[in-house]
Amino acid sequence: MKLDGSVALVTGANRGLGRSLVKALAKAGVPRIHAGARNPLHLPDFGSQTPVLPLELDITDGAQVARAASHASDVTLLINNAGLLPHGGAMSISEQDLRTSMEVNLMGTWRMARAFAPVIEANGGGAIVNILSLISLHNVPPFAAYSAAKHASWAMTQSFQHNLSGTGVSVVACFPGGIDTDMLAGVPAIKAHPDSVAASIVKAIMRGDAEVFPDPVSAMQGPALLGTDRN
Ligand SMILES: NC(=O)c1ccc[n+]([C@@H]2O[C@H](COP(=O)([O-])OP(=O)(O)OC[C@H]3O[C@@H](n4cnc5c(N)ncnc54)[C@H](OP(=O)(O)O)[C@@H]3O)[C@@H](O)[C@H]2O)c1
Repeated sequence: MKLDGSVALVTGANRGLGRSLVKALAKAGVPRIHAGARNPLHLPDFGSQTPVLPLELDITDGAQVARAASHASDVTLLINNAGLLPHGGAMSISEQDLRTSMEVNLMGTWRMARAFAPVIEANGGGAIVNILSLISLHNVPPFAAYSAAKHASWAMTQSFQHNLSGTGVSVVACFPGGIDTDMLAGVPAIKAHPDSVAASIVKAIMRGDAEVFPDPVSAMQGPALLGTDRN
């Protein structure tokens, strides 16, 4: 996909991987970027000349998602980045943790993709990139609510890939390993820098990859896991 003529929207752009994605897209020449955040007042200075337009966006709020799709009607590249990780195994998580994980990681991603697919198609085509996780392919029992939601989101991503074929909207599945952000704070793991993960994701979008393994752990483990997990 050519990025210099595209308009991007990144969800959860205020911190972590989302903030790095905005910077990487600007560096790659995307001329206009909508930065979605639950609280746009918390958006950082992205330090780029590219216009970054704040967009109030809680992906669990259907009315806000609909407003975003009508306000950001120039979008050709949606990066579904917002997510959350409740800790706890299947016996210890609360029902609320499971619901919230499903609501954000599955339903929110689905809600955004469904709202923006027609926008992107009407703008001549483009891409939706769902930031999933290696955990979408490999269950991690101490993160039971996250594992369940990210597995489900990978299944939904495959449905979008099928259902949107022929519309000019490609659907990209991205499977990062550990990233050094707030999400994994205090969790011992190999963690890639969010800027390097974002740079790999942007390169993969430009190449037109359908599946993205954007860090060394993901690149080493992901393809084999994907081979055994495709629906
Ligand atoms: N960190 C990792 O090791 C890792 C590995 C694989 C995949 N991922 C995936 O990468 C993506 C980014 O994660 P991260 O590491 O950057 O996490 P993070 O630092 O915790 O940031 C999460 C972002 O998602 C936003 N968010 C949460 N719920 C939201 C909602 N209902 N509506 C809109 N935005 C919401 C947060 O906004 P607030 O600031 O308002 O809370 C924040 O901007 C996630 O999809 C995550 O699952 C992360």
